[in-house]
Amino acid sequence: MDQLPNCIDGPPWLQLLNWTFDPIGFLDKNYQKYGDIFTMRSSASNSCIFIGNPHAIQELFDKESNFDTGRNNAEIKLFVGQNSLLSMDGKRHRRERKLLMPPFHGERLKSYTQQICLATERIAGQWRVGKTFVAHHAMREIVLATIMKVVLGSSQVQYYRQLQSLISSWFNILNSPLFSITLFFAFLRKDFGTWTPWGQMKKRQRKIRKLLQEEIEYRRKNSNEQKQDLLGLMMAARDKSGQAMADDELIDELFTILFGGLETTAAILTWALYEIHYNPDVCEKLRQELDDVESNSDLFEITQLSYLTAVCKETLRMYPISAGTLDRIANSSVEIAGYLFEPETVLIPVPYLVHCREDLYPDARSFKPERFLGRRYSSFEYLPFGGGSRRCLGEALAQLELKLVLGTILSKYQLSLVAHKPVSIRRYGFIMAPKGGIKMVMTGKR
Ligand code: HEM
Repeated sequence: MDQLPNCIDGPPWLQLLNWTFDPIGFLDKNYQKYGDIFTMRSSASNSCIFIGNPHAIQELFDKESNFDTGRNNAEIKLFVGQNSLLSMDGKRHRRERKLLMPPFHGERLKSYTQQICLATERIAGQWRVGKTFVAHHAMREIVLATIMKVVLGSSQVQYYRQLQSLISSWFNILNSPLFSITLFFAFLRKDFGTWTPWGQMKKRQRKIRKLLQEEIEYRRKNSNEQKQDLLGLMMAARDKSGQAMADDELIDELFTILFGGLETTAAILTWALYEIHYNPDVCEKLRQELDDVESNSDLFEITQLSYLTAVCKETLRMYPISAGTLDRIANSSVEIAGYLFEPETVLIPVPYLVHCREDLYPDARSFKPERFLGRRYSSFEYLPFGGGSRRCLGEALAQLELKLVLGTILSKYQLSLVAHKPVSIRRYGFIMAPKGGIKMVMTGKR
């Protein structure tokens, strides 16, 4: 049995540099050269295997007890804390997921419908005919308003606004190009005060934590009514021994949800707006479908529209928000796709590579929502939200947001791209998003 599949040529430092600064270029180049499974030697003793083969990914998810994830997320932990779902494995991870799940499913999820449409109308209402706006900024505002409602919706308005603006500026720092460099060079992660990006990030992080702490204390003192937002549910939850979550745990999980839910959804919405307006026939079909929805019907009906659903799926197929899923680190020797991997080997399923396969998605580089009308894909052929036990916790909320925000904008506004040209994908902190944020202009109301 072979030990490692298709080792990439060249010095480890160069491989790591390419992967860090141009992940999509790195994946495209090596997929062409080595096929759908290849190995990066990031140092003499560390190997990282990239997998773009659906069968191998299925095998990996089937053998998930052979892998850990939480113990490897060192960089992410700097932002969300040690008590985050992202830092956990095994039993503790399963228990925590169960606890966090309810606000993201069923009737509770449905209850956010109106809030999402209202937030969209409020932000889109600021657009003026003939005036340019950056789509990515607008989408971020809409998504932040929604996620704040899910997480802290029962808080007092003034407190809520203060926190929302702090979180927004925290993310602005995280997304700056200068800050991205600190993610990859540990020696730059020093708090030398507010004139360094790291110092600025830390200052805001401390302020956010302090505000969250104050809210937790306020709710404890006024515990006569149980709040129905995520913080309320987490504060009411008890483990088997009757133990409540500690304050640090509550705060870390709130950060985790904000971290996982904001930039991801905002980037995909921006790509969707770009593709819809880059392809006039797609825009036209969507408008027709939306116009057929009765004006007095339930807003939730929008989420059932088949062409809108296909447009969202196709956007998620073409545009990765991260270069791979979370890492899977072998905790024992394990065989995948005929290769034997030693403990500590890192395996990364890469949805982007699977989504670019011509055998699954003919003309894969073109935006064609129709492909999702005629065919169903398995969860190993189509996996924008990852899979197995780490599958995205906010998937259903993200899908709801995508459909409602796009549906609301397209039914009410005529928009166009300022420049009708291809846009490249760029890393902003942990997330990949359209370079320049996509400038758009409102040409009229409908
Ligand atoms: C379009 C939007 C989104 C995309 C494409 C996306 C994608 C992903 C992916 C690929 C993963 C890793 C899965 C794996 O390793 O198998 C993930 C994990 C996660 N996502 Fe999302 N996500 C989105 C929105 C959200 C939202 C809205 C939230 C929360 C409100 C969220 C919370 C999380 C959390 C907490 C995890 C970690 C799950 C765990 O470790 O068990 N995501 N997401």
